Amino acid sequence: MIDQSHANAELARRDLRHIWHPCTQMHDHQHVPMVPIVRGEGAWLIDAGGRRYLDGISSWWTNLFGHANPRIAAALAEQARTLEHVIFAGFTHPVAIELAERLVALTPQGLDKVFFADNGSAAIEVALKMSFHYWLNQGHGGKTRFIALTGSYHGETLGALSVSDVALYRKTYAPLLLTPMLAPSPDAYEGEPGESPEHVAMRRLAAMRVLLEGHAHETCAVIVEPLVQCAGGMRMHHAAFLTGLRALCDQYNVHLIADEIAVGFGRTGTLFACEQAHVAPDFMCLSKGLTGGTLPLSAVLTTQQVYDAFYAEYNAGKAFLHSHSYTGNPLACRAALETLNIFRDEPVLERNRTLATHLARRLAPLRDHPNVADLRQHGMIAAVELVADKASRRTFPSEERRGLRVYLHGLGRGALLRPLGNVIYFMPPYVVSEGEIDHLVDVAIEGITHAVA
Ligand SMILES: Cc1ncc(COP(=O)(O)O)c(C=O)c1O
Repeated sequence: MIDQSHANAELARRDLRHIWHPCTQMHDHQHVPMVPIVRGEGAWLIDAGGRRYLDGISSWWTNLFGHANPRIAAALAEQARTLEHVIFAGFTHPVAIELAERLVALTPQGLDKVFFADNGSAAIEVALKMSFHYWLNQGHGGKTRFIALTGSYHGETLGALSVSDVALYRKTYAPLLLTPMLAPSPDAYEGEPGESPEHVAMRRLAAMRVLLEGHAHETCAVIVEPLVQCAGGMRMHHAAFLTGLRALCDQYNVHLIADEIAVGFGRTGTLFACEQAHVAPDFMCLSKGLTGGTLPLSAVLTTQQVYDAFYAEYNAGKAFLHSHSYTGNPLACRAALETLNIFRDEPVLERNRTLATHLARRLAPLRDHPNVADLRQHGMIAAVELVADKASRRTFPSEERRGLRVYLHGLGRGALLRPLGNVIYFMPPYVVSEGEIDHLVDVAIEGITHAVA
């Protein structure tokens, strides 16, 4: 049982009286504790009773350099005294200008224009609308559909949910959604026994080619999560898929949208996952780590060619009319700039390589576990696929909620692990130490033992 102090219990009680939490069946809180966090410090979250939890999932994959990071906090304090917000139509500010310049310099070549929004799903909405509108402005109004991958997740607003394929989130709202075409994911776990990830990628490219052959005329864009389909269960694929997909999109005249919202900013070992495939998409969506996990902000980067298709005399009616009140918010942009400063000043990717190697070494013994069907990793994302039967890969029924047992065990042992169904994953902030990784892995292994019993 989790020992909750009086202060925790009181905050939890007040919370549950009025707050409706995301991604939660609120009834669960009859037996799952609500954890009130009052402070953060490095990779740790601290509750009202002083209990510490190692944040193994970077607070929904956002945090890079630790909670309450002093550099970002100081930059924000200064920005709050200078300019907290300004309308971003007709007006601009130096922080957004510098951020756009730096993002253009850091992202793959050709992405020269930056459209700001305020969360990941909003960035996806922008990319989908911009792609459709580009083709419309070019006289191709028949292009109205998108191709997404099976197992994909791009957010939960209606457009973003439309191009997502995780049943848990999509099924209920299906009658409200656009109908994208689904192409089979290059997910290496779904490969034939003994098949290499690269071979799976090639087979999936062949299927994509068939789809494009028949539907490119009505397709605006193919949207993908490069290298790792995160919410779909941390499923990973070979970079060759992205390289081949770029060529197919060029050949069939459809856009490529790279959703780097979760994998951007160093998660997979390079600053952006697309770099590993040596490709530049037509649209790159960024959020989460963009502000180091401090404030909501997103950006869609695109090409001069896309921008030019909208650039016309006002009455031509070609403008991209999409706005959010907090677009380009100066505080969020300042947090993003300071995050980029940390990347500039510190050997972040190099340190991550050492941490990722340590994580891999500590997880390796799990390969032999009778309930582990797969252990996979891309840089600072590692995942363990729990199954009821290793040989057949038979899964545990979802009603048994084995992952929840791992979560509860983690809370009791001072670790925030939040499995995706039966997938236990590790996505810690980059400031985590090797000793802290040891703690996360130890707690996870105990939790797995407990969960499969
Ligand atoms: C790949 C990907 N795209 C989009 C989103 C949506 O971002 P947000 O939760 O900020 O709307 C997420 C969120 O987890 C994501 O992982």
